[in-house]
Amino acid sequence: MFPPQSDVFKKLIAHCKEYGFVFPSSEIYDGLGAVYDYGQNGVELKNNLKKYWWDSMVLLNENVVGIDAAIFMHPTTWKASGHVDAFNDPLIDNRDSKKRYRADVLIEDLLAKYDEKNQKEIDKAAKRFGDKFDAEMFRQTNPRVLENQAKRDEIHTRFVKALHDNDLAELKAIIEDNEIVCPISGTRNWTDVRQFNLMFSTEMGSTAEGATQVFLRPETAQGIFVNFLNVQKTGRMKIPFGIAQIGKAFRNEIVARQFIFRMREFEQMEMQFFVRPGEELKWYEYWKEVRLRWHQALGLGDHKYRFHDHEKLAHYANAATDIEFEMPFGFKEVEGIHSRTDFDLTSHERYSGKSLKYFDPELNQSYVPYVVETSIGLDRTFLSILAGTYAEEDLGNGDSRVVLKLPPALAPVKVAILPLVKKDDLPEKAQEIMDMLKFDYKCFYDEKDSIGKRYRRQDAIGTPFCVTIDHQTLTDNTVTIRHRDSMEQERVAIEALSEIIGKSTSIKELLKKI
Ligand code: GAP
Repeated sequence: MFPPQSDVFKKLIAHCKEYGFVFPSSEIYDGLGAVYDYGQNGVELKNNLKKYWWDSMVLLNENVVGIDAAIFMHPTTWKASGHVDAFNDPLIDNRDSKKRYRADVLIEDLLAKYDEKNQKEIDKAAKRFGDKFDAEMFRQTNPRVLENQAKRDEIHTRFVKALHDNDLAELKAIIEDNEIVCPISGTRNWTDVRQFNLMFSTEMGSTAEGATQVFLRPETAQGIFVNFLNVQKTGRMKIPFGIAQIGKAFRNEIVARQFIFRMREFEQMEMQFFVRPGEELKWYEYWKEVRLRWHQALGLGDHKYRFHDHEKLAHYANAATDIEFEMPFGFKEVEGIHSRTDFDLTSHERYSGKSLKYFDPELNQSYVPYVVETSIGLDRTFLSILAGTYAEEDLGNGDSRVVLKLPPALAPVKVAILPLVKKDDLPEKAQEIMDMLKFDYKCFYDEKDSIGKRYRRQDAIGTPFCVTIDHQTLTDNTVTIRHRDSMEQERVAIEALSEIIGKSTSIKELLKKI
């Protein structure tokens, strides 16, 4: 369940719309639940993010290659993967508000409340005791903290067991015993908990021919599994190796009022890494660290990320963790790293009747490889970046600005070209500069309003550089370049611009930090 939208989150959603990042889908018809469109700035940011991920996989790792599989797959794929039988969420309805919730999320939120309560106690005590404060000792001895922790642990143990046993009645009992109320109606008038399959289906072929029910893929991973041998053989890949893919996935989400955090149509960037049986946990640890560094390289603050190991392992996993980011509404999953064993390939072998074994020349032996998966949500990462970089700054003298301090390599527009006035040949000179830079960088030309207002518009979309063309430019071919974060301006030669912009906006700079 999602807490009431914090002010900053509401502002972020409004900002996304006002500045062309994200619009509700088919808005003129009042939108469609949990479906969104990316606008002119959103798509640039998203494409940059894709490139950052793609290059980090297929450029930095010579043993990782990419594919682009179709969204539609043979329906048996989803039987083999377990999605037809097990891709369910436990649902509960509140009879008064008529709102539907995920029972597990209601309980997870309750657990998070206990954690928050204890953290508050600890923070309060830390302030009181200053440097001498020992948080661990306080945790182990403070009666209020101990009592909260005991309650939390008891709920947690019941919850994990209920999930493990697939015990829907027990999930409801946990909700009732802990007096969890519907945030809308405030009542505890709950229905029973039921399972709900999240896959969308449609029909392929005309009814005259006999249509087949097909599913919109709920994850991109299966397109990789079914192509495992195609890629291995045609690419002469040796284990360990990985296959990366970026693409749309679809889930009929129940809790769907979280902007682009939980969508019904979204995009995943997944990589399946095929390894020798028995080596999967070593590679799982390896990819956990690499993926965390990928996120941290964005510079939003290392403390904003944490690992969260899964309480209940998915049907295919023997180890799983999430990389969570501190959103305005708490720490939330942006990426999953799963050790998927040989579940998928073995299951596809069984259902298709085709061997998916790999012959390992070093071991002189054939086996079904084990798989470590990294699976990141593009939209969630997009949201984490906006949330982590949105700032309202007081500039003094009653002046303020909203600025997106985006990593320059991801910024939708790299440089704004601004003639100081709309006359005296300055627009023509500005156009010349634009023509010089536009082959390498997304530029934006703006001659409307005061220069201050134009700077603010660029700050709001995260443009790292503004180049101003003034009368001096016509005499000595220099311009002022303004840096978004410091707002400092320097006078530089026009020929120096490309290098200055390139240095800090290239994806390479991000990749080098991983
Ligand atoms: N192949 C594994 C897999 O799909 P997952 O944890 O279900 O694992 C991976 O999804 C990532 O996809 C999540 O970490 C999240 O970032 C993203 N994701 C999942 N469901 C989503 C949704 N409804 N809306 C937006 N992103 C979603």
